[in-house]
Amino acid sequence: MATKKFAGPSPYTFKPSYPVEDYLHTEYFNNVTTNHSTKSQAKPVVAAIFGLGRAGSIHLSSIVRNPRIVLKYIVDDRPENFDNLRKYWDLSDDVVMIMSKDADRVYKDKDVNVVFIGSPTYTHHDIVVKSIAANKDVFCEKPIAENIEDTKKCYEAAKSKGRVLFAAFNRRFDPAYRGLKERVRKGEVGHVQILKVTARDSPLPSIDYLKTSGGVFHDCLVHDIDMSCWVLGELPIRVQSTASALIPEVKEIDDFDTIAFLLTFPSGAVAIGDNSRFSTYGYDQRLEVFGNRGMIKVENERPCHSTETLVGHEGLKQTPIYYSFPSRYRLAYIRELEHFLDIVQKGVPMEVTSWQTLAVSKIATVAEESARTGRTIDIDWSKDDIPAVYS
Ligand SMILES: NC(=O)c1ccc[n+]([C@@H]2O[C@H](COP(=O)([O-])OP(=O)(O)OC[C@H]3O[C@@H](n4cnc5c(N)ncnc54)[C@H](O)[C@@H]3O)[C@@H](O)[C@H]2O)c1
Repeated sequence: MATKKFAGPSPYTFKPSYPVEDYLHTEYFNNVTTNHSTKSQAKPVVAAIFGLGRAGSIHLSSIVRNPRIVLKYIVDDRPENFDNLRKYWDLSDDVVMIMSKDADRVYKDKDVNVVFIGSPTYTHHDIVVKSIAANKDVFCEKPIAENIEDTKKCYEAAKSKGRVLFAAFNRRFDPAYRGLKERVRKGEVGHVQILKVTARDSPLPSIDYLKTSGGVFHDCLVHDIDMSCWVLGELPIRVQSTASALIPEVKEIDDFDTIAFLLTFPSGAVAIGDNSRFSTYGYDQRLEVFGNRGMIKVENERPCHSTETLVGHEGLKQTPIYYSFPSRYRLAYIRELEHFLDIVQKGVPMEVTSWQTLAVSKIATVAEESARTGRTIDIDWSKDDIPAVYS
C-alpha cells in the first residue's frame, strides 16, 4: 500500500504524449493522421542517376521507392549490369540505361529536371557543370569536385543559373548525430571544450577505388571535418594532422590509411579526430562533445539493439556494430534525399551550403599539407566569403 498514493488519475483522463526523439513514431503519426502538411503536393521530379556502384546503389534503392521521383535515366559504365539491374529493381522500359559517352541524351532531355551523381569523384565536375548548364538541379555525392577551384566553379555555375547544387554530406542527416548537434547548440553541455570524432572504415575499399578517390583527406576526412564544424558552428583557425600508410598497397599509391588530426576553433574548442581506412570489427562511427556543463556522446549503433548482450563463461558478448556505411547510415541517406527534394520542390533552404562545402575542402587540403609537411597550419578566413552565422 505504500505506493498507492502515487497512483494519480486514470491514464484515460489525460492526453498521451511521446518523446520527440522517437522520430519514427512521428512519421507513423503523420501517416495515421494523414497529415497532408508533411507531404509534398508538388509534381514528381524527373531524374537521371549517374554511377551505380557503392554509393549510387544506395541512392537508387531510395529513388525507386520514392513517389516524389520518376526515374528516367541510369548512366553507368558497366553496361553488362543493365539487364540485371532492370530485373532486380523491376524497372519499366521507360527507364533508359546508357553509358557515360551517351550522357548528352540526359542533358538534352528537357523532361529531366534533377540529376543524382554517384559516379567516381573525378567525373563530378563535368557532370555537375553540364547538368547545371542544362538547367537541372543536382544532388552530388561528396566531394563536389577533386579540388577547391573546380568546386568553386560548380557552385558559381549553380548560382548563375539559379539551380540547386546539393553536396551529400549524409552524416548530417543521421538522427543520432543531428540530435547531438541540436543539444549542443541548445547549450546542454555548455561551452564546448573538446569534440572527439572517430571514423574507421569497413570494409577495406578496393585499391582501384582508392586510386581515384582523391585521397583519404578528401574522400573520408571531409566527413569528420564537416561534422566538427557543423556541430560547433564555427571554422577552425589552426590545423594539425599526422598520417601513416600502414597498408603497403596504400603506401604504394602515396595515400594514407591512418590519420589523427587536431582543429582549434576561435571559441577555444578543440576537435580531435582519428580516422582509419580499415577497421576489422565493423564501421566504427563515434562522436563525443565535452563542455563545462557535461558531455554528450553518440556511440556505435548495432543492427539488433534489443538482443545486444550474451553472457557466457567467456564474459560478455555483444552483437556486432554495423558493418558498413550503407547499413549504419541507411536512414541518413533516405533523409538527405528527402531534404534535397524539399529544396527542389518546396524551396526549403539548403542545409549544406556552398561556403560550408568549400570551407571543408579548404580544411581537408590544409590537413593533408600538415600531415605531409609536419607543420601546424593557421587558416585565415578573412578573404573567404563566410557569413557570420553558421547554420
Ligand atoms: N557519402 C557516402 O557515404 C559515400 C560512400 C561511398 C562513396 N561516396 C562517393 O560516391 C562516389 C562514388 O563512389 P563509389 O564507392 O560508389 O564508387 P564505385 O567505384 O563503387 O562506383 C562508381 C560507378 O560509377 C560508374 N561510372 C564511372 N564513370 C562514370 C561516368 N562518367 N558516368 C556515370 N557513371 C560512371 C562506374 O561504372 C561504377 O558503377 C565517390 O565520389 C565517393 O566519394 C560517398
